[in-house]
Amino acid sequence: MKKFVVANWKANKNIKETREFLVEFNNQILPENVVVIFCPSLPLLKAFEGVPYFLGAQDVSAFPTGPHTGEVAASQVAEMVDYALIGHSERRTEFKESDEVIVAKIGQAFACNIMPIVCVSNLNQVQILADAGFKADDLLLAYEPLDAISTGKVGKAEDVKEVLAFIKEVQTILPDVPVLYGGSVNSKNAAVYAKSSEIWGVLVGNASREPEELFKIIQAYA
Ligand code: 13P
Repeated sequence: MKKFVVANWKANKNIKETREFLVEFNNQILPENVVVIFCPSLPLLKAFEGVPYFLGAQDVSAFPTGPHTGEVAASQVAEMVDYALIGHSERRTEFKESDEVIVAKIGQAFACNIMPIVCVSNLNQVQILADAGFKADDLLLAYEPLDAISTGKVGKAEDVKEVLAFIKEVQTILPDVPVLYGGSVNSKNAAVYAKSSEIWGVLVGNASREPEELFKIIQAYA
């Protein structure tokens, strides 16, 4: 079974730093069972030309192309990416994105053949996706508990138990939907998530910005 390691660089790195990262990272031989997806800021995508990894946007607009200054429509990034993060908690909090907006964004991505990776932190957010008519094949979910993001307080047996309990509940709402885990994943705790067959992979923030650290996380799936 394929596992996913998704690198969410958030608003970090410029082109030069991205090229330096890739020079180091490209030397690594990655396990074939892992789908590696980089989600850099859009201006960095050109530095990824020709690299053998999947790419994802960190967001797409809820609108199609048209008079929406500052927005990037899903159809505009569809030639460059296969995936898009949607509904990340930072967008829900800092940009006040509502469930309605998130559903519209998923619809836009889906219509442009971009696979949405929808970030959720509670079951209500999953229920909203089911109520909107999305099915397991339409998206990947990433469970990111709010108190686990960039806190470093994860990786213990009870944390994994909590993730598995959440995934079990998710399956009653959206049967068979793939669920990744995100929140303070690093090279030291990656193995505990990697060994659970119910967790389809990880969504990594801070630790994905260092080539060696990201490589070690991917290696946890080898
Ligand atoms: P950290 O890995 O830095 O906690 O970030 C998690 C996250 O928000 C990934 O989308």
